[in-house]
Amino acid sequence: MAPTLTYDEVVLGRRSIRGFKPDPVPPALIREVLALALRAPSSLNTQPWNFHVVAGAPLDRIRAGNTERNLAGVPHSREFRTQGEYAGVHRERQVEIAKQLFGAMGIARDDKDKRLDWVLRGFRQFDAPVSIVVTYDRAIHGSDIGPFDCGAVTNALVNAAWSRGLGCVINSQGIMQSPVVREHAGIPDDQVIMICVAMGWPDDSFPANAVVSRRKSVDEAAVFVGFDGED
Ligand SMILES: Cc1cc2nc3c(=O)[nH]c(=O)nc-3n(C[C@H](O)[C@H](O)[C@H](O)COP(=O)(O)O)c2cc1C
Repeated sequence: MAPTLTYDEVVLGRRSIRGFKPDPVPPALIREVLALALRAPSSLNTQPWNFHVVAGAPLDRIRAGNTERNLAGVPHSREFRTQGEYAGVHRERQVEIAKQLFGAMGIARDDKDKRLDWVLRGFRQFDAPVSIVVTYDRAIHGSDIGPFDCGAVTNALVNAAWSRGLGCVINSQGIMQSPVVREHAGIPDDQVIMICVAMGWPDDSFPANAVVSRRKSVDEAAVFVGFDGED
């Protein structure tokens, strides 16, 4: 597919996609998208990232194992540190996007069944035809730069995909049970699992796909220093 979108159209139009058409994604197109993403900058150009592109039966086994273990109450085994529950303004933003998504999907606050169904969809990576598991080389484990570099390349990946008409949702729900992902994707021990990206053709009839999340303004996010009199 020939790219037709400008940079602004890609970054302003992209949103997380959580409902996919069942149609497969050609591996050649995924390669094209990865080639664009791989232009992302990294610390000292070390490019510590790796991608495991999973589809078909192995992806179904990951979905099943992830769901089964989460439902059984197996504690998550994501391979990055987390900070516990969000609080304050971060919690407010988390609640805001959840309300937007649940509102679009018609999930009432007290509807436990529908809420569980939504969580289970997440564990299944929203039934996307492709999941790209992003890892980094264990040789640099412990440094914060590896995860930073993975963030840069993953953002580049979802934007490159969008430029080709593909939708993605970066998600940590899909890798909650890392041994399952490691086994069925065949990820070697010398790599650390960072995140995964569910990818496919957006289903435009899926209500949550229309949700546009809010961002802080430039004034809230940025401080300018040394620009006196230039505003
Ligand atoms: C590191 C990371 C982890 C995420 N994990 C999940 C997830 O587990 N489930 C989910 O539905 N979305 C997940 N998201 C998507 C975010 O909710 C989404 O990017 C955010 O709400 C902004 O919305 P937008 O992508 O539509 O702009 C994740 C995003 C990032 C960057």
